[in-house]
Amino acid sequence: MAWHNALKSHKLRDGKTKMVTVKRTMVMLGRADDGLFATEALCRHMRWPLAWGAKVKDGCVRCPLHQTTHRLEDGALQEWSPFPLFPPYGKLVGAMVKQKDLKIYNVREHDGFIQVELP
Ligand code: FES
Repeated sequence: MAWHNALKSHKLRDGKTKMVTVKRTMVMLGRADDGLFATEALCRHMRWPLAWGAKVKDGCVRCPLHQTTHRLEDGALQEWSPFPLFPPYGKLVGAMVKQKDLKIYNVREHDGFIQVELP
């Protein structure tokens, strides 16, 4: 594992997320109240780019499409495709894909860059 520059620190403001490619790996970077986080860039459900509208709240990231939710600390699945409830389309499309946790990457700021640890 090694640290790689992902983005200049000043390009990620508080409360924002950005999708970047680091060493051919697509990563979503975010800056929340409790610090930086880095996850795989695409939703585990149907591969929606999470940086396009994901909500970060209570230590979790929620995809805007069907609201699949993962914990930022370890990527553990919290809720799988619950939306919309009526008609139960969310549950239907949720059943089409195997449930998975979200990959979480170590992240830090160093020398004016946000860095991500990758193999
Ligand atoms: S694509 Fe993200 S919840 Fe369905």
